[in-house]
Amino acid sequence: MFHSIIAGSGHFVPEKVVTNEDLAKLMDTSDEWITERTGIKERRYFDPEKDTVANMAARASKMALERAGMKADEIDFIVFATIFPDYFFPGSGVLLQRELGLHSIPAMDIRNACSGFIYAISVADQYIKTGMYKNVLVIGAEIQSSVLTFDTAHRNMTVIFADGAGAMILKASDLTSKGILTTHIHSDGRYAELLYLKDPGSSRKVRLSKDIVDNESFKGYMDGREVFKHAVVRFPEVIQEALDAADLTIEDIDLLIPHQANLRINQFVQKRLGLADDKIYNNIMRYGNTTAASIPICFSEATGEGRINENDIICLAAFGSGFTWASALIRM
Ligand SMILES: CC(C)(COP(=O)(O)OP(=O)(O)OC[C@H]1O[C@@H](n2cnc3c(N)ncnc32)[C@H](O)[C@@H]1OP(=O)(O)O)[C@@H](O)C(=O)NCCC(=O)NCCS
Repeated sequence: MFHSIIAGSGHFVPEKVVTNEDLAKLMDTSDEWITERTGIKERRYFDPEKDTVANMAARASKMALERAGMKADEIDFIVFATIFPDYFFPGSGVLLQRELGLHSIPAMDIRNACSGFIYAISVADQYIKTGMYKNVLVIGAEIQSSVLTFDTAHRNMTVIFADGAGAMILKASDLTSKGILTTHIHSDGRYAELLYLKDPGSSRKVRLSKDIVDNESFKGYMDGREVFKHAVVRFPEVIQEALDAADLTIEDIDLLIPHQANLRINQFVQKRLGLADDKIYNNIMRYGNTTAASIPICFSEATGEGRINENDIICLAAFGSGFTWASALIRM
């Protein structure tokens, strides 16, 4: 049986920086409120003239390929996690395939929101283990700023979400001591409507109606407090599940890379697990919550900063809409 090792990672964030002060000019909020409740100081927004979900993913992929010392045509499968694809259909996976100049390899889209990247890794890992594919490009990429509303009524979501893309290349290896040790994915659809974007949904008589516009159901809805309450339980639970499966303990983790939903959630989890500051990676202060992109952006940045070294045990963990939650343990 093959194992999936991490051959390379990369990321791309759009140029436009939007600070808390910029948002405070448009709605009743403040740098102080946003920093205290979420940890976010600034975020990136795409440029509609040049950025697409797929081309941001392509730029992240090129960085990952370069770091892996690989050519695009060595990739034999694309798994693309996004909840905001460029088109309603087809998914962004095929658009990325086109951007990379690849033809006929399979491209699959995954729609599991903030847990999407770990879901995508778990899918890629299964295909590698069975020997079906050798070099899988796994993506998390989102353009969310175009769905945000810049007024006081929508400030709870607007200050949090942002744009970006991250990539990771999983490579088949027969080294059993390295690579993805275990992945764990979960969901509980009873809570689907606590963090969701309802319209334009398919189960409507008329997909785009005046009602949808009047009720603003084409904008997202989030019950922030409920999300918070569930997240702080599921994060430690799914991390422990992964450690148990790999016969490891918290002390074995060299770096925890949690989804960047909210710094307060991550600090809560860090404290609960008793992890030192240098054992957790956060960059939400600079990028906000980029949903499926947050974990691969962190992984790529942490790699660039020398925070991920040979033989390190890296733990990835996420929680988000669905609700869904997930974890993965990797030995580098
Ligand atoms: C969204 C979140 C930061 C809100 O913090 P909170 O302490 O729960 O705040 P509440 O929603 O209870 O709102 C408290 C007050 O702040 C106000 N408020 C909300 N957003 C605000 C903003 N951006 N600026 C200023 N005030 C704001 C609310 O209107 C409310 O005012 P009221 O008491 O007069 O009604 C927090 O719930 C959270 O982070 N939840 C998790 C969200 C998340 O992780 N989502 C992504 C999941 S992947």
